[in-house]
Amino acid sequence: MAVDITFLGHAGFVLSDGNSSLLLDPFLTGNELARHRPDDLRCDYVALTHGHPDHIGDTVAIAQRNDATVIAAFEICGFLGEQGLQKLEPGNPGGQIQTDFGWVAFTHAFHSSSYEGRYMGMPTGLVVQMNDLVFYHCGDTGLFGDMKLIGEIYTPDVAAIPIGDRFTMDAGLGAKAAELIAPRVAIPVHYKTFPILAQDARGFDPKGVEVKELEPGETWRYAGRVS
Ligand code: NI
Ligand code: MN
Repeated sequence: MAVDITFLGHAGFVLSDGNSSLLLDPFLTGNELARHRPDDLRCDYVALTHGHPDHIGDTVAIAQRNDATVIAAFEICGFLGEQGLQKLEPGNPGGQIQTDFGWVAFTHAFHSSSYEGRYMGMPTGLVVQMNDLVFYHCGDTGLFGDMKLIGEIYTPDVAAIPIGDRFTMDAGLGAKAAELIAPRVAIPVHYKTFPILAQDARGFDPKGVEVKELEPGETWRYAGRVS
């Protein structure tokens, strides 16, 4: 079954197969490039890569309004519980959470994770399986050699790779990451949102991997491996 992949801008996505819908890192308020407003979004689940404000974003309001389950690091779930959320699925790198649509696995990421000075646990990447799609969201990270192992274990169809430099990889290192992961399609993320990030995806040109640049608000229908 096809899965609609909607890019929310920055590192945010909606994955939807028509039955279930999952939000990843929904940072809309304060993101001038975003085309969606928090009130527009319907979801059953929200999954977070780490605790920085440009990733937690509008999670509390959206999860509350949708009665959605939040999947995130143990410490982030502790924080969100204090904010009034009750449907929480905490995890950590190496672990996998079963969902109505499939599963979400936590990988490691080389970054930091805090919210207004509070420790938010390990930063993570997330691998999502929804119908015919395996989607690897690298989170915010530097390059690491185990991306090859993550690619071998989960065989992702699509990978979202941060390329904005300064806090993550730049386009050149991101291309190397895409070559290690070896998905069918790589989507560059975490650029252009702020003046201090790279303003375009120039140089993101991995060998053997198709690149798909999505504009904030754009939806791409992933039709499955046989298409
Ligand atoms: Ni971050
Ligand atoms: Mn970030």
